[in-house]
Amino acid sequence: MAGIKIDGKIIAQSVKDRVKKAVHELKTQGISPCLATILVGVDPASATYVKNKHRACEEVGIITKDHKLDVNTTQIQINEIIENLNKDNSVHGILVQLPLPKQLDEFSTTSRISPLKDVDGLTPHNAGLLTMKKAALVACTPSGIMEMFDYHNIDLEGKNIVLINRSNLVGKPLYHLLLEKNATVITCHSRTKNLKGFCQSADIIITAVGDRNKFTLTSDMIKDKAIIIDVAISRFQDKLVGDVDYEKIIEKASFATPVPGGVGPMTVAMLLKNTITAASLSSQIGR
Ligand code: GUN
Repeated sequence: MAGIKIDGKIIAQSVKDRVKKAVHELKTQGISPCLATILVGVDPASATYVKNKHRACEEVGIITKDHKLDVNTTQIQINEIIENLNKDNSVHGILVQLPLPKQLDEFSTTSRISPLKDVDGLTPHNAGLLTMKKAALVACTPSGIMEMFDYHNIDLEGKNIVLINRSNLVGKPLYHLLLEKNATVITCHSRTKNLKGFCQSADIIITAVGDRNKFTLTSDMIKDKAIIIDVAISRFQDKLVGDVDYEKIIEKASFATPVPGGVGPMTVAMLLKNTITAASLSSQIGR
């Protein structure tokens, strides 16, 4: 029997419905949640992601401020924009779309964001809190994946979970979130030896490589009834694809996410949720 498709669009909608109610609540308290985005350059994929984020904010009543910067923006210029947004009391969340052009340093840029407005959970402060189970703002893709497990009542305790990614936005935060649920987590990456062996022993595989010329997760690499989460999205042979050979894998897995329509919508929904959290934090701190 084929496995169950984890439908990110449906789960994201349930998150958005909750966010919409929370936005209404905040507005009755005189707070109008607002997300500021910064996009540097004209990368078409990044521009589409930012546009989708704005559209989703509009759907739930979150105000947006859109900063589109020239591809040649300097570190000093972007720092100044972030400092101004940090000081602006009408802005609750700040998102710098990644990747950045070469002249801008990702760490210097994102770590400048006020931790209270850090809706990507990327600042050292929030990343550190996550390792101690104290984070209020957690990276959106990892928290979206946790929401997917919750929605399907997938118990993570004692499960062997293989992550194929070690980035600050995906692999590292996921590691901590899964550990909190008492899973046994192995982080694999480009230098891992015998990746197939790790995958074959996993109850759950979460993969985010994003290059089908280099890597495809095929059904011979998973065990029967494994759960497969595909975070990647890239263009391959003129189609949007993830890392997973979904049509074949869903025949063997117990659950799997499609691409598109899997993890992607969750990332956007959790950004909205984080913006609400940041707006509530600001009211508690009484700016
Ligand atoms: N680029 C790809 N995914 C993300 C994300 O979740 N946040 C930011 N800021 N940039 C990204």
